[in-house]
Amino acid sequence: MTNEIHYHDYLQLDKILNAQSPESNKHHLPAHDEMLFIIIHQAYELWFKQLHHEVDSISAIMKKPALNDNSPELQTVVHRLNRFATILRVLVHQIDIMETMTPMDFLDFRNMLRPASGFQSWQFKELEAKLGLKFQQRHGKEYYISQLRKEHIDIIKKAESEKSLLELVNAWLERMPLAPAPGPYPNPPPTGEGMANTQASLIQDASISSQADFWNEYRIAYVNSLAEEEKNNLEAFDEMFFEKPRTLNPEPQTSNPERSLSSSACRSALFIMLYRGYPLLQLPFQLLNILLEIDEQLSSWRYRHMNMVHRMIGTRIGTGGSSGKDYLKAAADKHYIFKEIAQLNSFLIERRKLPGLPRELEIRLGFAG
Ligand code: HEM
Repeated sequence: MTNEIHYHDYLQLDKILNAQSPESNKHHLPAHDEMLFIIIHQAYELWFKQLHHEVDSISAIMKKPALNDNSPELQTVVHRLNRFATILRVLVHQIDIMETMTPMDFLDFRNMLRPASGFQSWQFKELEAKLGLKFQQRHGKEYYISQLRKEHIDIIKKAESEKSLLELVNAWLERMPLAPAPGPYPNPPPTGEGMANTQASLIQDASISSQADFWNEYRIAYVNSLAEEEKNNLEAFDEMFFEKPRTLNPEPQTSNPERSLSSSACRSALFIMLYRGYPLLQLPFQLLNILLEIDEQLSSWRYRHMNMVHRMIGTRIGTGGSSGKDYLKAAADKHYIFKEIAQLNSFLIERRKLPGLPRELEIRLGFAG
């Protein structure tokens, strides 16, 4: 007798197809749309499981110290991150199906679900943690502790204690051998009345500094690209890429005490964005770009979910007891994971003004002979 594998058994359909038990049936108050509500949440949880599978494998590769920028493994990372983003796009669209349920259809069974809530989706929170959201950065920290089961909190805490994708990306950028290292920093930090004079002093610096390195040249090109009202960006530039404390605006709105990317990682990332046309920087660029796509899709999901909640329950509190729409709005605004990468785009300059690279570096970047 052959041990043929059968579709039904392989997919364990007995378990999956018998895993829907509407509360409304148990209460003998059948509500047609509860089946949709259950299945859509189950479909989400299955996709979350796949997203964990992808991010775990990506992190395992990124943990290898020798991951190089031209290796097949980096291809795999980019390929799987692309899949991750594609699944997120599907998850955003699934809200369309949920929205075929009207608020009155929902009211038929909503009260039977209390105090259950999507907030208790530990897979979702674990995923946020694996990507890089720290406990301290969460909106409603106490609420999260109070709503989840101890065993689920432990799972999320474990993910928070391990190296997140964001931390692994930071370490990979720091190791990047291709971006030029800064030389001794030749420009004095701008002084109190100095912003108006900054441009002049920079130009002077350039002329006195015959050994002006790449970053000094880039800094001059950057300051020349700034509009008058943007001149304060130079301090942000120095802080971001050279860890120079700010002197003009010591406590600016934009300063980020919980910085996740180091200055050297930021320099590598900016360099990749600027010179992505070179063969060796193409994959690293794709990697950074997909991280932004992931943040954008997660944010789209949060906003669509929030608007759906508003449409479904107005301003009433959630079944999990939160303020509902207001809680979701605050979490959506706060939970961008790769925001520091997006912020680097404030420091780009026009392609035609980019400093030329030394021949030797061009060759290392893959432009042969
Ligand atoms: C009628 C449809 C839905 C309504 C009215 C709704 C409502 C809410 C509300 C009010 C919250 C805030 C916590 C609370 O007080 O309960 C919440 C959180 C959440 N919901 Fe939904 N939800 C719906 C559908 C979904 C679906 C289909 C998913 C898919 C998994 C989902 C996943 C989540 C997640 C992950 C959170 C936590 C978000 C965070 O903490 O940032 N929800 N939901």
